[in-house]
Amino acid sequence: MLVSAAEMINKAHEGHYAVPPFNINNMEWIIAILKGCQATNSPVILGVSEGAGKYMQGYKNVVAMVKEIHDNLGITVPVAIHLDHGSYAGAKACIEAGFTSIMFDGSHFPFEENLEKSKELIALAHSKGISIECEVGGIGGEEDGVVSSGELASPEECGVIAGLGVDFLAAGIGNIHGKYPANWAGLSFDQLAKIQESTNGKPLVLHGGSGIPSEQVKKAISLGVSKVNVNTELQLEFAAATRAYVEAGKDQQGKGYDPRKLLAPGTAAIQAKVEKMNTEFFGCAGKA
Ligand code: 13P
Repeated sequence: MLVSAAEMINKAHEGHYAVPPFNINNMEWIIAILKGCQATNSPVILGVSEGAGKYMQGYKNVVAMVKEIHDNLGITVPVAIHLDHGSYAGAKACIEAGFTSIMFDGSHFPFEENLEKSKELIALAHSKGISIECEVGGIGGEEDGVVSSGELASPEECGVIAGLGVDFLAAGIGNIHGKYPANWAGLSFDQLAKIQESTNGKPLVLHGGSGIPSEQVKKAISLGVSKVNVNTELQLEFAAATRAYVEAGKDQQGKGYDPRKLLAPGTAAIQAKVEKMNTEFFGCAGKA
């Protein structure tokens, strides 16, 4: 059974560890992440961006695939299926489709509009037992080749959205999506501490979890971050393992071109990385 992410995140916040939402892209990603989290006995959130939802032929298909794979593998750790950076319409569509958690990212709207839409979606999600994440301030990253540095969210605005009863809150503290540039200034722990205070200890979300040095991730967790989003890191692992297979000519040996063989090293690499991150980074191993 898929569950809301509220309980697992609250437990992580109390226990000073983080639950990883790993983004999924296809069947191999779902299998690898579920197997990895079962192996480390960790709760997990499967993140689905709107683009990935489209790629996987719609939110209903994503929910059906996750449920079947979950049951077929005999997964017993808590699993939530969560919309990542959802639009207003996307959030409603995922609630309809059977997601157990959603993110509404209204950070690009003027604050009043973000507030109004967040309020409505929090009430709707909670009326269905679904957890909800909202966002204040943008998360930087690469867009059209330009890397913007991470924004710092306003602690006052974070406090207002937290007061609406959101389950967990994404707030920029210098983090960005994708690869971090060599001259990245690092996370702002001062800002994080201020946000944790202004939100009365609301569980916080760190987006752009790929490539942040582990000491910074651990410090952020100790200061109130309970959900660290990871996408790029698993994509890089998959690409490297697949490249090694092809460069070794294995796709040309016997039936090495069979997609089940071709995709196997990348899938195994994702699982290994998930297990390593759960154990060494997030502290969620054994917390299911
Ligand atoms: P990365 O791709 O940088 O890991 O970011 C993932 C993320 O924050 C998804 O919302």
